[in-house]
Amino acid sequence: MMSLTDQLKWRYATKKFDSTKRLSAEQLDYLLEAIQLAPSSYGLQHYKVIVVENPEVRAKLREAAYGQPQVTDASQLIVFAAETNIDEAYVKSFVDLVAETRNVSRESLAGLEGMVLGGIANRTPEQLLLWAQKQAYIALGILLAAVAAEGIDAVPMEGFDPAKFDEILGLKEKGLTATVIAAVGFRAEDDAYSKLVKVRRPQSELFIHI
Ligand SMILES: Cc1cc2nc3c(=O)[nH]c(=O)nc-3n(C[C@H](O)[C@H](O)[C@H](O)COP(=O)(O)O)c2cc1C
Repeated sequence: MMSLTDQLKWRYATKKFDSTKRLSAEQLDYLLEAIQLAPSSYGLQHYKVIVVENPEVRAKLREAAYGQPQVTDASQLIVFAAETNIDEAYVKSFVDLVAETRNVSRESLAGLEGMVLGGIANRTPEQLLLWAQKQAYIALGILLAAVAAEGIDAVPMEGFDPAKFDEILGLKEKGLTATVIAAVGFRAEDDAYSKLVKVRRPQSELFIHI
């Protein structure tokens, strides 16, 4: 069995997808479950994840992503959209979920609720959004590791206009904003990028041991 680091050496930011190859339903379920399992600050999961398959919508999104072909050619486009309204109601619904999932009383979670409410009260609206966006990137990281582990290709992408994505996907009215995206699928045989030697800073430079 290949180790995760072997698989991370195999993966690369795919530039050209084979548009005839699709993820199976099981593969997509596996990726979505991996995203669902991503950790987040307090467990709030401050984002939603939009799985875009519709070709017409994807054609529009490609235009809003500087024409990047992966947006239309990959099997699915996954949009990580940060919550723009992390407020008291959002925290309360999260605490409700904890109570229900763990089958404990709401009262026993008063400490947790107070702590999370304190965590949001301490932040400005800008800081709340940045906080939510950071959590979305953790979910992206988990997705990138999950695809690699299963021999599925992906490209993470920041090269898009978030305001246009929000408009095309109707995210603003849902209290969301597109933060980072990933296209998932299978590499085209002739994607020259798959042959490039991976460039990474040497460990002696990257790590500081104290
Ligand atoms: C947050 C993020 C945004 C990125 N945005 C794009 C993008 O818009 N288009 C693209 O082709 N690659 C994009 N990349 C891919 C990087 O260029 C690539 O991961 C990096 O050069 C390292 O190469 P590797 O992933 O093939 O090892 C992005 C990567 C990350 C992590």
